[in-house]
Order: sequence, then structure tokens, then C-alpha cells
Amino acid sequence: MGKRTRKDFPTKEEGRGNGEIPKVPVFIMGKRYEVPASLTIQKAFEYAGYQLIRGCGCRGGICGACGTVYRFPDSHKIEVGLACQTVVRPNMYLTMIPFFPANRAIYDLEEIRPDLESMIKLYPDVMRCVQCNTCTKSCPMDIEVMDYMAAAMRGDLTKVAKLSFDCVMCGLCASRCPTEIAQYHIAILARRLYGKYILPKSEHTDAMVKRIEEGRYDSMLNNLMKADEDKLKRLYNEREIEPEGAGEDWKPKDSQYL
Ligand code: SF4
Ligand code: SF4
Ligand code: FES
Repeated sequence: MGKRTRKDFPTKEEGRGNGEIPKVPVFIMGKRYEVPASLTIQKAFEYAGYQLIRGCGCRGGICGACGTVYRFPDSHKIEVGLACQTVVRPNMYLTMIPFFPANRAIYDLEEIRPDLESMIKLYPDVMRCVQCNTCTKSCPMDIEVMDYMAAAMRGDLTKVAKLSFDCVMCGLCASRCPTEIAQYHIAILARRLYGKYILPKSEHTDAMVKRIEEGRYDSMLNNLMKADEDKLKRLYNEREIEPEGAGEDWKPKDSQYL
């Protein structure tokens, strides 16, 4: 059985005959609980009485804070996922690993170059990769982790940056790597170097920074800082919102700050 997400399971509102959602047994850190079958692992923890302070951020599959590891009694396989996105299945033995220790190099982007030498100097571990593909199979974002590691070994930072773009830094790849590499730290080094040295400079960002430095937004920001709560709420509620499906050429009526 593959991983199910919330979308695969009907909610109570979507109807299941008598409206009741059946319960399934799961084992949270070894203790058995019966939880509604439609819950994500994250919600199952809370249903069982756990208060999640760490390992719980966006609840939407973006922040990468909720790595989880589980297995089934009839399977040799350890499975991983994001707790906020993975729906419980009967007899899951599960726990959460909100943080996985992985060493991160310290560097000053101004002092390194976008090449293989920088990569190897900061992360010599990169050369330990044996291309086993365990990291790719562990990634909840379906990133081709092994492929970006191969690109990192060649110093192809553009490829690393592009392949790893959707990384949420959950650390699950590192938790399964037999050669103990911190893939996601390697990928973020590549993305930083790519952004700073390889991508063409963004002229509109430079123009905006110049406008900020010239003080174009100072009075507007000062007025906001002085506004009371009611005024801030009114301004927020009355703001012009880009209509759904608006084209590239859409502009707000008040474009004085663009
Ligand atoms: S799990 Fe580790 S050794 Fe295997 S491909 Fe990924 S980075 Fe390389
Ligand atoms: S590459 Fe690694 S850290 Fe990034 S999302 Fe995939 S498993 Fe998580
Ligand atoms: S809580 Fe943010 S990805 Fe799960």
C-alpha cells in the first residue's frame, strides 16, 4: 500500500454512510491508540493527547518541521513522511523526528566561489555518496536527491539548485543515508551560490532597493507604525486583492508604491 494523503480519505462532511469515521489502531512510541482513520499522523498525535510544541509548524507540508518515521508489523521496511501530510493507516508504529542532527558548514558567501572546490572544501562528505538512491526514496517532496548529489559531486551547482528547489529541509534524506551525508545543507549551499553568482542579476530588485534607500516608503511606513489596531484592521480588510486568475499585466488601482 502506498502513502495516502488527506485527499485520499473522505472527511465526515464528505459522507461515509452514517457519517461516522471508523477508527484504526496505531502505535505511538509503542503505545496503542484508536484514532479516526481520516487523521494525519500529526492530528493522531494530538488526538491521543500529545501536545506538539516542536515538530509542528505550518501544518501544510511546507516548513519541513514534522518528519515522521513509521513501519508496519508485517513489513521490514522503515517508511518516512511529513506528519502533517501523511494519513494514518492501521497498525502503524510511528514516532516523530522533528530534528535530525546534521552538521552544517559555516561560510561567508562573499568569500567563496560557485565551484566544485568550494563544495568539497565545505562539504567533503559529498564525495562519500555511493549513489544508492535511499535519499530519493525517503524524500516526501519527491525530489531526485541522489541526482542532485551526483551533480554536487561534479560541481554542477545550477543542476543542484534546480533539482533541490522544493526542499523543505525536513532532514529525512539525511536520516536514511548510509554514508551519513547532510544532503539538504549541501543543496542549500548550492542554491545560495547559484542565486548570488550564477543567476542573472534581477534589475527590478535593484530598482526597488534603490527606491527604499531613497526613502520613498518612509512616510507610508511611519503612518502605519502610528496607526491604532482598529485602523490597521480596517486598512487590512479594505486592501485591494488581486482577483483570481488575473493576468500578468494586472495592477492595483493605487500603484503609487509600485
Ligand atoms: S542516501 Fe546518501 S549515499 Fe545514498 S544516494 Fe543519497 S546521499 Fe548518496
Ligand atoms: S531533500 Fe531531504 S531535506 Fe529536502 S525535502 Fe527531501 S528529504 Fe527533506
Ligand atoms: S508542519 Fe510544516 S511541513 Fe508539516
